[in-house]
Amino acid sequence: MTTSAGPGAQYISAAALREFAAAIFERLGLPGPDAALVADCLVRANLRGLDSHGVARIPIYARRLRLGLVNPRPSLQITRVTPGAAHLDGDDGMGMVVGTRAMAEAVAIARETGIGVVGVRRSTHYGMAAYYVLQAIAADCMGFAFTNSSPGMAPYGGTKPVLGVNPLAVGVPAGRRPAFVLDMAMSVIARGKMRLAGMHGEAIPEGLGRDAQGRPTTNGMQVFGGGSVLPFAGAKGSGLAIWMEIMGGVLTGAAFAGQMRSLYEDFSGPQRIGHLFVAMRPDLFMPLADFKQRMDEMIERLKDSEPADGVHEVLMPGEPEARREAERRQTGLPITAEVLASLQAEAAALGVPLPELSPTPLTESA
Ligand SMILES: NC(=O)c1ccc[n+]([C@@H]2O[C@H](COP(=O)([O-])OP(=O)(O)OC[C@H]3O[C@@H](n4cnc5c(N)ncnc54)[C@H](O)[C@@H]3O)[C@@H](O)[C@H]2O)c1
Repeated sequence: MTTSAGPGAQYISAAALREFAAAIFERLGLPGPDAALVADCLVRANLRGLDSHGVARIPIYARRLRLGLVNPRPSLQITRVTPGAAHLDGDDGMGMVVGTRAMAEAVAIARETGIGVVGVRRSTHYGMAAYYVLQAIAADCMGFAFTNSSPGMAPYGGTKPVLGVNPLAVGVPAGRRPAFVLDMAMSVIARGKMRLAGMHGEAIPEGLGRDAQGRPTTNGMQVFGGGSVLPFAGAKGSGLAIWMEIMGGVLTGAAFAGQMRSLYEDFSGPQRIGHLFVAMRPDLFMPLADFKQRMDEMIERLKDSEPADGVHEVLMPGEPEARREAERRQTGLPITAEVLASLQAEAAALGVPLPELSPTPLTESA
């Protein structure tokens, strides 16, 4: 699976890529701060090694914005429905703009009441789910992000893609140790990684997807267009994906279970994705410092446990991505030739200058 530099990749600093992406979204009609926010979310995914959810997505977001299927200047209405919960109408805005606003509200409510829940309807694809729980962690809160997503996964025992892969993200601050950041789609691997593998002509492993006729396939592109990816751990992954449809879609008033429009395949209207954000103060039952100390202690006990044969180190969820981020802040971000070509086309169409890239890793970056 391609999540790192392949042959022919060129390197760019995070700051230069952010500036470029923000300029593209501003030309597409987003207000400056919203364009910068979307760019930051995409570049953060690239920094964390999740290239499938980084700037490679610019062309599809641009296409939906141009078609008027995403509202570049949404009016975000928030209604407080109880002391602890609010409802946000995303007005078909960019998922990152809607999601960040919703998590900010959840954190604000949590500061008042201990826990804040914000349900979101009329949103669109929101990229890397970890972005929103990292936002909660930065505010010293635990964060949970639920979403549904484009139909693409068959429920356990089925062949038709009536579920999304519906990633769940959970973030919990720690003390000396890096925060716990679990961010996982309910498919064996994310559809975006299969698309990237298909784009690069790489086969996907067996057992991950079915084609439109319901037959097993190793061609990443065949899981799209009526094909489906498979849930991890059979009925268990499928059950969690259904739970995400309930929390993100059924509960919030968004579309659900195959009714939302696919990001890449359905241009007949806005996506109508739903999310649910929860922020919770970690000092509900003890002082914050004690909680963080207990998190560190738990992480250390797990990490100090004996690694399995052939495993160098027990890692915590989020640790591989945090390490990749530290590395990429130094080397810059690798951009493959295919992604670069698609960005060049957008840049030319919008009259945004493409920043310089380096054929080798950078020595100092941002
Ligand atoms: N917005 C959407 O609709 C959508 C849909 C699908 C996926 N996504 C995003 O795609 C990205 C990739 O999802 P994924 O399911 O392929 O993630 P993944 O399989 O790469 O990682 C899943 C989790 O496992 C952890 N992990 C990985 N290796 C580990 C190890 N050796 N030890 C301990 N923990 C480890 C990671 O830190 C992560 O928390 C996520 O950011 C997700 O939010 C978004």
